[in-house]
Amino acid sequence: MFGMNHHILLTGATGFLGSRLCSALLESHLRKDWPGKIFCLVRGRTLAGGDRRLHARLTLTPQQRDRVVAVPGDIRQPFFGLGEVAFAELAGQVASVYHCAASVNLAADYERLVPANVDGTRTVTALALLASAQLHYVSTLGVFLAGRETGLTHVTEQTVPRQRTAGTVGYCRTKLVAEEEILASGLPVTIYRPGLILGDSVTGECSGNDVVARIVRAATSVRAAPATEGVVAISSVDFTARAIAALSMIPSNAGQVYHPVELSPYPMSALFAHLRNAGHPLEELSIGQWRQTLDRAPQNSAAFVMLAVWQAVRHLIAEPASSASPVFDASQTLDLLRREGVHPSDLDEAYFHRLFRRILRVP
Ligand SMILES: NC(=O)c1ccc[n+]([C@@H]2O[C@H](COP(=O)([O-])OP(=O)(O)OC[C@H]3O[C@@H](n4cnc5c(N)ncnc54)[C@H](OP(=O)(O)O)[C@@H]3O)[C@@H](O)[C@H]2O)c1
Repeated sequence: MFGMNHHILLTGATGFLGSRLCSALLESHLRKDWPGKIFCLVRGRTLAGGDRRLHARLTLTPQQRDRVVAVPGDIRQPFFGLGEVAFAELAGQVASVYHCAASVNLAADYERLVPANVDGTRTVTALALLASAQLHYVSTLGVFLAGRETGLTHVTEQTVPRQRTAGTVGYCRTKLVAEEEILASGLPVTIYRPGLILGDSVTGECSGNDVVARIVRAATSVRAAPATEGVVAISSVDFTARAIAALSMIPSNAGQVYHPVELSPYPMSALFAHLRNAGHPLEELSIGQWRQTLDRAPQNSAAFVMLAVWQAVRHLIAEPASSASPVFDASQTLDLLRREGVHPSDLDEAYFHRLFRRILRVP
């Protein structure tokens, strides 16, 4: 199953999803007697610094630890800043490339995100081409964020995103352009589009900077939530990582698109109901009134941060109803995952309470 060049290149391994993906890839590959290593491209001026940052983030067994190698580099730089020779040497060793690094900033405009998300993906693609490697690209269902405004109400793994479906949020636009450029390169590529990635299914541990965390902090800080008909697609970070690792091991998956999503459609109103049940009294306001409440709380940093990502949030909470996200269908991916032995976890009320404790840092 594994050829001469059996190593993996992974970008984004110091991140929320990437660190879990690194562990999941090690688990799934080591089960198949894989002899390789995972080269993790990590920002850092020195090899030692990059290595420290990487291992501080990863939770690995000693056997797994030996299989992880930090490569200091920045996806925004030509040849990752490695120089052309070292770049080609790296390419010479890898059989597959998992591109998970990105600037996930919903407040930033398109131009600001291009160096990491578009130029960076172009360099990753160039390395994969040089390596004749298969590319696994972690995209986002956000490429359809504004889909309903274009008449798209239902999105499956076969639906093709367009610039209009990505809408005006810079992050979603860069992820779409990156997808389009990868597909145009002719590389064998598999695309994974998660929805909103929430905290760990067991501990609730989360990134704290994601859009759901922002909504939760804003709502609890003004003690009010919007009455919303919006629906989203959600999954825990551990499920997302296990799903991507398992799907990536399926032979002949080049050209496939997967939706590694646990629950969809998930009503945003259920999130606020769980928050109330967790002991946070929230007055229900119309979306317009909720927005005004946030606007009138200038000293409130949670409200301020929330307003900075309003362009994206308005699609999640369906403001107006014609801007709601489409319904994301993940049934084909979930069927495949069940056959691979990867089952969705139970994202029940208790899970959300654990998640809220992490987001709000309450014991
Ligand atoms: N979070 C979600 O809800 C969500 C949903 C759908 C899709 N996704 C996708 O999942 C992937 C991971 O997202 P995440 O939430 O895990 O984000 P994250 O925690 O912010 O991690 C981003 C990773 O990318 C790395 N990175 C950023 N800029 C880089 C650069 N110039 N050079 C090298 N590495 C760089 C970061 O490295 P540093 O540690 O050095 O910053 C970090 O390891 C992204 O591709 C994102 O588009 C995320």
